[in-house]
Amino acid sequence: MASQVTNDDFHSTGPETLAGRYLRRHWQPVYHVADLPRARPVPVRIMGQDYVLYRGEGGATHLLDARCPHRGLQLSAGWIEGECVRCFYHGWMFDETGQCVEQPAEDSEFAHKVKIGGYPTEEYLGLVFAWLGGGEPPPLPRYPDFERFEGVVEIDSYRRDCNYFQNIENALDMSHVAFVHGSNRAAFREIGRGRDLHAVESDWGISYTYTRPDGEHRTQQFGMPNAYNLTALPTDPDVGWQESLFWWVPIDDERHIQFSIHRVPVTGAAAERVGLRRQERRKTIDIDHNRLSEDMLAGRLGMDDIDAERADTIRLQDDIAQIGQGRIVDRSFERLGRGDVGVIMIRRLWIREMQALADGKPLKDWTRTPEISPEAWSLKDNPAVGGSNRGNGASDDVPSAPLVDVRPYIEIDSQLELLGGRA
Ligand code: FES
Ligand SMILES: [Fe+2]
Repeated sequence: MASQVTNDDFHSTGPETLAGRYLRRHWQPVYHVADLPRARPVPVRIMGQDYVLYRGEGGATHLLDARCPHRGLQLSAGWIEGECVRCFYHGWMFDETGQCVEQPAEDSEFAHKVKIGGYPTEEYLGLVFAWLGGGEPPPLPRYPDFERFEGVVEIDSYRRDCNYFQNIENALDMSHVAFVHGSNRAAFREIGRGRDLHAVESDWGISYTYTRPDGEHRTQQFGMPNAYNLTALPTDPDVGWQESLFWWVPIDDERHIQFSIHRVPVTGAAAERVGLRRQERRKTIDIDHNRLSEDMLAGRLGMDDIDAERADTIRLQDDIAQIGQGRIVDRSFERLGRGDVGVIMIRRLWIREMQALADGKPLKDWTRTPEISPEAWSLKDNPAVGGSNRGNGASDDVPSAPLVDVRPYIEIDSQLELLGGRA
């Protein structure tokens, strides 16, 4: 019997850790397709491990261990040749499986003895997903309702400089919304009181529901181990509600990226107006929210000092809430109440599954069945949002929704700096 798994096991995600092993048993988004150069490899750090990612000349993406096993140069400095990457230093070349296939200065028998790790990848919904778990991967989970519908898929990921699990816990904590985001149109004003919050285990993870005093409810769906599907009110006058899909992926133990896409049901002239506003907005945001949160937490700035034109204030509000707990929160002195039912439930599921992993017992196979849909207040019967998993998306008559990147340019720079291991 392995030792007892505790709250301390959530945060470390290196390859030998329990949380790291658990996350690696699920496909993870690791990069935005839009950020991958056509003819140049890039360095990628995920869960404290370094890789090289590149697009072969045939068009497929490949992910290998970061360093050349000859003398340790990072392979991202090299060149793409066919489906291979060639090291910048002495020209050793590796195919998409990580097999060394050429060593210009060596005799021919040596190369076949040298192999580095190669990891399956798939491009989907504007993201490069990777299987980092070894062995034969299961099929990549699909989200048909985000593939085909009348509207656009917006890519809106962000970096946050704290442990990924704090963001997971924050998602299952609706009683923060009225406080942290009280100043936004996107927030709801009611306090999510403990007795009105319910967290129930589902086939995918957790169905998390807040029932308002008037009886209307809002349900968000958490997907084990680190995904989320919810409906949210966006900050654009032409969009009523949108449905979002998030993955919280650790870069190292103190920083993560939320890969996020939004299913935005707008078409025609409204879609054009939204598109223009979004493209304008990504240019005007020119201050990094993680930097501002550092200044605020250090006492150098207050929220009133922030120019909302130049910074993403919703991000910043959640930065303060989560980074302000500490880069890695100390859970040993917490006092949890009834309002923390979501937090309690996610910890329970993670601990149960990590314990099974530690003990070599079977793990639950999580699936997002068609019944598992987010709902928001009275929107559950609106086919455009809320409950779209029930089938609106799957028909071939509906075109694939175009992908639109709405990340501020400064956010992209900040993500690439972190992913590249240089932050
Ligand atoms: S370090 Fe890569 S070929 Fe020498
Ligand atoms: Fe929030």
